[in-house]
Amino acid sequence: MSNSTPGTGSPDTSPEGVQPEPPNPLDEAAVAAAVEQALAAIAGAADLNALKEVRIAVTGEKSPLSGANRAIGKLPKDQKAAAGKLVGPARGRINSALAARTVELEAERDARILVEEAVDVTAAPRRRHIGGRHPISTLQDRVADVFVGMGWEIAEGPEVESEWFNFDALNFKPDHPAREMQDTFFVEPPEAHLVMRTHTSPVQVRSMLERDLPIYVLCPGKVFRTDELDATHTPVFHQFEGLAIDKGLTMADLVGTLEHFTRVLFGDEAKVRLRPNYFPFTEPSAELDIWHPGAKGGPRWIEWGGCGMVNPNVLRAAGIDPEVYSGFAFGMGIDRALMFRNEVSDMHEMIEGDVRFSEHFGMEI
Ligand code: PHE
Repeated sequence: MSNSTPGTGSPDTSPEGVQPEPPNPLDEAAVAAAVEQALAAIAGAADLNALKEVRIAVTGEKSPLSGANRAIGKLPKDQKAAAGKLVGPARGRINSALAARTVELEAERDARILVEEAVDVTAAPRRRHIGGRHPISTLQDRVADVFVGMGWEIAEGPEVESEWFNFDALNFKPDHPAREMQDTFFVEPPEAHLVMRTHTSPVQVRSMLERDLPIYVLCPGKVFRTDELDATHTPVFHQFEGLAIDKGLTMADLVGTLEHFTRVLFGDEAKVRLRPNYFPFTEPSAELDIWHPGAKGGPRWIEWGGCGMVNPNVLRAAGIDPEVYSGFAFGMGIDRALMFRNEVSDMHEMIEGDVRFSEHFGMEI
């Protein structure tokens, strides 16, 4: 015990202050212990990452044997050789243990990867079901492409349409029997005068009001009529409407346009035939038949849609001077085209949404 006042005694006089001999890193027992510890750590490293840590601890600058190596440098010359013989082999044992463990762990890792990442090339593939575009969409795009290829633009209009666009502006008089030609879904309340559009022709009027002349537009879209669903009818179906307004357009331009279009869609032998008909918004008006060379059961005429020269009253309703401009229009059914072009015999197939129906058409139609 010391009776010196705590804190005042000098370290070398107080017993607590006696510095313990610093452990001699070149002591044989210390070197042996360091080797044993290192070998145990190496053996205990469970994987290559752990071994990396161990390598740093047992061979890095702070490791006991690096300390021993540095201590050799400070020894008197005549003691260096003996110390070297002690430390050198110790380091050698550690290095070869590291090398051996590395080989072992690498082999273990490789074996594990072979199992974990094994691919059974004989296994049945898990098929990802990606669905299929509906052929109505595909055919609609195809039709649009033909007209875009001729420099036409695609126009759109609302499916819930004002009665004025659907009928009045198209020259259907309020008491005109032609209104009865199309069985209309009226949207409540009646005062709103809204209908589910019965054809794509209201887009003619919208296009004339919105666009600069000349106009060449194609409008594909859904239309609605109060038909019962059966093999050949559906209350929701698809049409495309074509409208061209320019100076000097005649019936010949209408026929030429339709001929080009039908040939692209039905082959070079396809033809068009117009039969007189009546639509309030065209004058003259015609029923359009096409000669379908690839029809099931042999080539034949098929009734496909309506067309005609835009009625001057319709041009006037859209603020276009019929003395200067003339135009033609046509409208055809897409669902119907799919039936006679792609041999779909029952409308139910088109609306039921069974993906197998869509898939067998593929990406091109
Ligand atoms: N909109 C008419 C129908 O659905 C078809 C048509 C379009 C007729 C354009 C003439 C001109 O029956």
